[in-house]
Amino acid sequence: MLERRWLSNNGPFVREFEQRVAEFLAVKHCVAMCNATVALEIAIRALGLHGEVIIPSFTFIATAHALQWQEITPVFCDVDPTTHNLDPARVETMITPRTTGIIGVHVWGRQCAVESLSEIAARHNLKLMFDAAHAFGNSYKSRMIGGFGQAEVFSFHATKFFNTFEGGAVVTNNDDLAAKMSLMKNFGFSGYDNVIYIGTNGKMSEISAAMGLTGLESLDEFIAANRRNYVAYQAGLQHIPGIHLISYDVTERCNYQYVILEVDKTNAGISRDDLVQILHAENILARRYFYPGCHQMEPYRSYFPHAKLLLPMTEKLCQRVMSLPTGTAVQPEEIETICTIIRLAVRGSQEFLPRLAAIREEQHP
Ligand SMILES: Cc1ncc(COP(=O)(O)O)c(C=O)c1O
Repeated sequence: MLERRWLSNNGPFVREFEQRVAEFLAVKHCVAMCNATVALEIAIRALGLHGEVIIPSFTFIATAHALQWQEITPVFCDVDPTTHNLDPARVETMITPRTTGIIGVHVWGRQCAVESLSEIAARHNLKLMFDAAHAFGNSYKSRMIGGFGQAEVFSFHATKFFNTFEGGAVVTNNDDLAAKMSLMKNFGFSGYDNVIYIGTNGKMSEISAAMGLTGLESLDEFIAANRRNYVAYQAGLQHIPGIHLISYDVTERCNYQYVILEVDKTNAGISRDDLVQILHAENILARRYFYPGCHQMEPYRSYFPHAKLLLPMTEKLCQRVMSLPTGTAVQPEEIETICTIIRLAVRGSQEFLPRLAAIREEQHP
């Protein structure tokens, strides 16, 4: 790349990366971008969404912001408490004359109810796209995620198991949409001095594409490490009351990049927040997810102060769900330690609770 002196602007690495990703996902087009947030914005704009778009609140804030940034109203819909994904029955009730589309999020990489959502979208003449930021390398009914809806968006951010430092892509089987998005990510330039469309700068750099091409070579190794870790957590967390590790469909391809727990305080004796506090004290980077939910963050909290009344399952999950460390840097012995700490925390909850309360009081009197 340095010898070629071609560092950005649709260089050879970006083109190769787009081609390899499209082949891997069995889609016609991959349009690589600088990150998934911009990729979402561009896909939303290229699809012509406006007015209101239905999304889950149980997602990373970028899904909502990509709409609001373009003055499109995100309408937060409740999720299915088992799958953590959009509940199609609830989606149907959120449709108004202003609705133009639905964005499903494949949360933790587990596929949305793609058939039901497609059927609803078709019946109401709505566009359907997916935020597949978590789902690179996953399949549904043996089809790679990436080929569903009008377009799907991936994130290759450094926190993802497969990354390009920063990066993202929109994949689609629609030729016109792909052509439009390629223009939009490059300021709308169609030729040397010819701008034919409003665009932005969404380009992926050559160094990111090179990182992506290298990562693609090791994808199986990354997934094997994640799977090994997931299995270690499965073994270590068995039979702990109130601790539920979410499962993946073993008949599908899965990247196992998220190890997600639901903590049921009634049975565990401690809440999700207590457990996260204990793990942090032991230097273990557990995280609350997606806390507190998009509808509880600004500007949405002010725009829709009563949203939570329609989001009972989301509210519940936002209080119960957390993630545990995984990836190639985490070893099964460390996972054993983490599981032992969780087991001790639950077993000793009666002893720990007053001490946790005292620490919190000290920190925030
Ligand atoms: C569900 C979801 N959507 C969108 C994004 C945004 O991705 P990026 O950081 O590449 O902009 C993320 C990032 O973590 C995500 O988890």
